[in-house]
Amino acid sequence: METELQRTFNLAVDNGINLFDTADSYGTGKLNGQSEKLLGKFIKDYQGQKRVQNDIVIATKFAAYPWRLTPLQFVNACRASLDRIEIEKIGIGQLHWSTANYAPLQEKALWDGLVAMYEQGLVRAVGVSNFGPKQLLKIYDYLKARGVPLVSAQVQFSLLSMGEDQLETKKICDSLGIRLIAYSPLGLGMLTGKYTPDKLPRGPRAFLFRQILPGLRPLLSSLKEIAQKRRKTMPQVAINWCICKGTIPIPGVKSVKQAEENLGALGWRLSSEELAQLEHAASESPTKMIQNIFQTRFVFLITYLKIF
Ligand SMILES: NC(=O)c1ccc[n+]([C@@H]2O[C@H](COP(=O)([O-])OP(=O)(O)OC[C@H]3O[C@@H](n4cnc5c(N)ncnc54)[C@H](OP(=O)(O)O)[C@@H]3O)[C@@H](O)[C@H]2O)c1
Repeated sequence: METELQRTFNLAVDNGINLFDTADSYGTGKLNGQSEKLLGKFIKDYQGQKRVQNDIVIATKFAAYPWRLTPLQFVNACRASLDRIEIEKIGIGQLHWSTANYAPLQEKALWDGLVAMYEQGLVRAVGVSNFGPKQLLKIYDYLKARGVPLVSAQVQFSLLSMGEDQLETKKICDSLGIRLIAYSPLGLGMLTGKYTPDKLPRGPRAFLFRQILPGLRPLLSSLKEIAQKRRKTMPQVAINWCICKGTIPIPGVKSVKQAEENLGALGWRLSSEELAQLEHAASESPTKMIQNIFQTRFVFLITYLKIF
C-alpha cells in the first residue's frame, strides 16, 4: 500500500493537514515500528509546496510495555522512534496508556520518562492517551509541578463513543487548556455506512462489527438523513460532529479516495439541531463501542489487538 499511502499523505498535506498520529507499537512482528518508518519516509519523499520538515506535527505514542520500567528506558523508546521517523523532534510524545489499573508502580517511571524526554528536547510537547478523568487530572498536576505542559489527551471519541467518561474528560481538557484528540472518529469504519451485518470487513473488525452493527440502525439512518440533506457523506458528517464538539478528530485513511472524502468534513459546521438529532439517535442505538478494561476506566479493544 506504500505508493497509495504516499499519495494519500501528499494530498492531506497539500490540503493543510499537519497532524499525523502514530505509535511505536503500530506494526507487529517483522513490521515492528513500520508505521513510524513509513511516516518518516512520506515526509522525506513529499514533493509538494508545504514545508513538511518544519510544519508537520508527528504525534507518536510510546507503549507502556511491562519491560519499560525506568524513565531512561522510556526516553530510549523515544530515541528509537526518532530514529525510525528520522526527524529531530517529535511533535507530541504521548504515553499510550496508563498502567494505573494493573501496575501502579510503573506509572511514575513512565511519567518521569515523559518529563525527561521533554527536558532533553526530544519532544516539543507531551500528551497522554487512554487516560480516564481521574488519571488525567493526576498526571496534569504531576507534569505541571515539573514545568512540563500537557497539551493533549487522546481518547476514543465518536458518535459511538460519547459516554460519561469521554464527556468528563472533555470538560477537564477544556478547563485545563488541553486539546482532546478524538481517535476512531468513524467507529473503525462503522459510521461510514458501508458495512452492514451482512457485509462485514475482513479481519478482527468483523467480530466486533457483528456485535455492534445490528444495534446502530437509528444512528446510521440519522447520519444518512443529515448527509443527504446537506449533500455531504456519512463519514463527513461523523467527523464534523467531532469537530463541532471541540475535538481534533484523527480519522484513519487507507486511500486517496478516503482522504479526499474526509477532507470534505472541513469548512462547514452541523447546526445545533443536527447535533442534537445525531446525539439523540446515538442514545437510541442500544449498542456502543467496546471500551476496554485494559486502561483507566476505558480503552478500546482494537488498541490491544493492534499492539499484540
Ligand atoms: N490511542 C489509541 O489507543 C488509539 C486506538 C485506535 C486508534 N488510534 C488512532 O486513531 C486513528 C484512527 O482510528 P481508527 O483507524 O482506529 O478508526 P477510524 O478512524 O474510526 O476508522 C478508520 C477506518 O475507516 C475506514 N474509512 C476511513 N475513511 C473512510 C471513508 N471516507 N469512507 C469509507 N471508509 C472510510 C477505513 O477502513 P476500511 O476502508 O478498511 O473500512 C479506515 O481505516 C488511528 O490511525 C490511530 O492513529 C489511537
